[in-house]
Amino acid sequence: MSSRIKISPSILSANFSKLGEEIVLLDKAGADYIHVDVMDGHFVPNITIGPEVVKKLRPCTKKIFDVHLMISPVDKYIKSFSDAGADIITFHPEATPNIDKTIKLIRDQGKKVGISLKPKSNIELIKDHIKKIDLILIMSVEPGFGGQKFMPEVLPKLKELKKIITEKKLTIDLEIDGGINFENCQAAKEAGANILVSGSTIFKENNGNLKKNIELLRTN
Ligand code: DX5
Ligand code: ZN
Repeated sequence: MSSRIKISPSILSANFSKLGEEIVLLDKAGADYIHVDVMDGHFVPNITIGPEVVKKLRPCTKKIFDVHLMISPVDKYIKSFSDAGADIITFHPEATPNIDKTIKLIRDQGKKVGISLKPKSNIELIKDHIKKIDLILIMSVEPGFGGQKFMPEVLPKLKELKKIITEKKLTIDLEIDGGINFENCQAAKEAGANILVSGSTIFKENNGNLKKNIELLRTN
């Protein structure tokens, strides 16, 4: 895991009528990853995009597709998101009956494995799996929508995970996702996040100046 802070803009806040162009702009604006929020209207009360759209967006950039699956069931879609061009596939432990099996399905596709914890989901859910994954996504909003208010009560969980990872000398990225803005990004970094997801701040602040907003999140 590199020490440099990475920014993963969430396309949930992008203009869905021209997603491809928006991804090209994010690439040019210096995004490290592209955060693709996949929602099925079942695991979360919202529906966004599926593998076919990801496949069409893939040629728009060479940047890492950081695919956040807020879907259940999840196993039967791992291959299609892999084939569509996902680089990191992150799932929620509550979305699968067998976490090890889901991890293996992603590994077998040669992709990086992420697990996401909702604000009220406990670290206990993933403690036995932490050595088998590449990324932990700490949600600082309830999954389902962009533009929600940051929940600072998740920071102790982030700190605890950072402590565990450091003590066990593990190479795992800690990604925080939800309500990240210029005021709270420093606290998120200090708590241990090395990847910041942001949708509404990046697309809406400073008249939508993507480059400026990405830089501000990275350096603030
Ligand atoms: C919410 C998504 C987040 C969200 C982030 O379910 O997982 O990635 O789009 O958007 P903001 O930064 O607006 O909270
Ligand atoms: Zn997300």
